[in-house]
Amino acid sequence: MAAAIENEPIYFNPWDEAYRANPYPYYAPLYRRPPHLMNLFIPMALVARHADCAAILRDYENFSSVPPMSPFLEQRLAVFGTAPRVVFSDPPVHTRLRKLVSKAFTPRRIRDLEPRIREIAASLMAKAKANGKFEVMADLANPLPVMVISEMLGIEARDYENFKHWSDVVVESDMIPPGVPLPDRVKESFGALRAFFIEEIERRRREPGDDLVSAMVSARDDADALTEEELIAFVVLLLMAGNETTTNLIGNGMLALGRNPDQLELLRTHPELTPRAIEEMLRYDCPVQSAARYPKHDVVIDGVEIKVNTPTFIIVAAANRDPEKFDHPERFEITRDPNEHLAFGDGIHFCLGASLARMEGAIAISTTLQTFPRLKLSNPDAPLTYKGSYFLRGLSSLTMAVD
Ligand code: HEM
Repeated sequence: MAAAIENEPIYFNPWDEAYRANPYPYYAPLYRRPPHLMNLFIPMALVARHADCAAILRDYENFSSVPPMSPFLEQRLAVFGTAPRVVFSDPPVHTRLRKLVSKAFTPRRIRDLEPRIREIAASLMAKAKANGKFEVMADLANPLPVMVISEMLGIEARDYENFKHWSDVVVESDMIPPGVPLPDRVKESFGALRAFFIEEIERRRREPGDDLVSAMVSARDDADALTEEELIAFVVLLLMAGNETTTNLIGNGMLALGRNPDQLELLRTHPELTPRAIEEMLRYDCPVQSAARYPKHDVVIDGVEIKVNTPTFIIVAAANRDPEKFDHPERFEITRDPNEHLAFGDGIHFCLGASLARMEGAIAISTTLQTFPRLKLSNPDAPLTYKGSYFLRGLSSLTMAVD
């Protein structure tokens, strides 16, 4: 048995559209074995077992989050400017940044947003109801998170469209293979996003408000504060980390409900199950498929040596279907408990926006089921198209029947 698994072929190619449409069958042989070394443009390691993924995510002493710089990466990260980013940093830099941003990004600020998120979701769904049809992505999943994060940052409604467009272009740029120069439109979006935030930060320095940007401008730890470049880097990160991810939680979650009408009915009749249903959506079809780490020196995991600095993909989406960890992992069960998925990562980089994403997801799903009690997939056999990113897994569109 062990030898058969060792010999199972591994296919990992996020640039293949068919692979992106359904990566899960390709993960199966991976989580049955130790880390897999391969070469795709560059040498890399793939980690898929739940136990290995959790251990590496927690092990910041041996696994760095700082990508070794290359001209390719330098141009990709240019959107953040020159400052370190909380998600791509190690202690002590990470400790300092996380402490400072956590002073502004507080649980209370997130809790206070709840009524406003309900209002936005209700108005989006009222519009869909008036039109008598429901395209999940365009009508709800795309606009809701960008409206919420924009309000949180104090960005005016008239800027939402631009903001969403720049963010989409920046997110999609993660599919540009190493060695290929960034297209002009990507560079332009990088530039526009930075210029926009430089202006916004200046405005908040002059006229502080009750928003997150103002809170970050004034966030201090003793004499320490975020520099202008650190602030811009963090706001751009929030935009990228907070928008597309939550959009995909809503889209992938609605698809899972549509494909499992018994679970949809269970949730509709038992709305108190919503928080657990959200956890199952996160586990079952993870908005973020993979995180990256870089060994600080040669390391051995389950007998496999990963050389220093080798990009190591922690495929949390595979770990979330590891049969060692989850019973019947391929089943979508909204009552699953316990459900220790890794959709938000683990350890010191655990998602800062997890409670916001959970709240937005829960409000989006419950408002939808209240608005459209007879919701189902329009055409369960229709082929689905996914957006251009592998790391952020999300649908381009999803039409549902409402009566
Ligand atoms: C369903 C939605 C979301 C998912 C699945 C998700 C997933 C993740 C994951 C896997 C990480 C860890 C990355 C790593 O270890 O390398 C992470 C980190 C992070 N996320 Fe989220 N995220 C979501 C929503 C959000 C939202 C709404 C925000 C903010 C508005 C946000 C902000 C962040 C930040 C700032 C970090 C970096 C934390 C650190 O490095 O200390 N995320 N997220």
